Amino acid sequence: MKSRRKFIKQLGLSVVSIPLASSVLKTQSCESPPVVNKFEKPNMPIILSTWSFGKIANQAGWDVLVNGGNALDAVESTAKFVEADLSQTSVGLGGWPDRDGFVTLDACIMDEKGNCGSVMFLENIMHPISVARLVMEKTPHIQLVGEGAQMFALENGFVLHDAPTEGSKKAWEKWKLENNYEPKISPENHDTIGVIALDKNGNLSGACTTSGLAFKMHGRVGDSPIIGAGLFVDNEVGAATATGTGEEVIRICGTHLVVELMRQGYTPVNACKEAVERIVKRSPRYTKEMIIGFLALNKKGEYGAYSTRKGFEYGVYDKVGSVLKTAEFMETY
Ligand code: GLY
Repeated sequence: MKSRRKFIKQLGLSVVSIPLASSVLKTQSCESPPVVNKFEKPNMPIILSTWSFGKIANQAGWDVLVNGGNALDAVESTAKFVEADLSQTSVGLGGWPDRDGFVTLDACIMDEKGNCGSVMFLENIMHPISVARLVMEKTPHIQLVGEGAQMFALENGFVLHDAPTEGSKKAWEKWKLENNYEPKISPENHDTIGVIALDKNGNLSGACTTSGLAFKMHGRVGDSPIIGAGLFVDNEVGAATATGTGEEVIRICGTHLVVELMRQGYTPVNACKEAVERIVKRSPRYTKEMIIGFLALNKKGEYGAYSTRKGFEYGVYDKVGSVLKTAEFMETY
């Protein structure tokens, strides 16, 4: 540990040493993007997840919902599906490691009553989302970190697994040669699974899990395990989750903002758009290379998503079927 710290200090590196964007902002869509969907009766049950792996994983959550299960079990099932897939390089133990070669995992979960649990900087455990759920259900706390989170997991029957995978180790070794031990934030090197659902009883829940920014500083935690940043649920209003550069999402308490905007009457897509614009216009660290996206669902089962850049996809599973959609986006070039 001592020698690693010394090495990092010598290099003078910082994950947040990002130059300011100088580009003029230009929105890709009109001032008020169209509502993606509107339903006369509540559209439930429904489950939504970030990215194309979310569309595949939504099946696990849909199976829970369609059989009358609750939204909390559904979002956990979908998140677990991706965590168990070791071919995924941004979620679970298949995730690319930090810049010192350690795979460290972050996750959080929130139910319709406002109960929530989170784990951060957790190593060698296959299902961080289930540990987060146990933190919520079995402890008086919300967040457990690092060694303490791992001890808690082991005490509750979880077992240790090896990480990184051979493939992730090779990617890390290649990265070290090419990137001079300096993490670069880009759309290619991280994406999170965020899941939000509304069950047959009209209750909302959410889950969010990630291995975080690839080749990050050891100890770095992003938005994904932070309630109000990577995930927020308010059963009176709606739920939201985030993906992309976590530092920017934390800075504006992104998903809390999205839910509060929906409370004020914003549609899900407009709430996500407002949050993205706030980052792009006001953040001192935002650069146009970053992809940052929000996905939101309200109590009526209306949903929407918006991102800084082209390319943010999300899966939707409702009674119509399972589809992959592309979020609207702002162009910053
Ligand atoms: N949004 C994931 C992270 O920044 O770690």
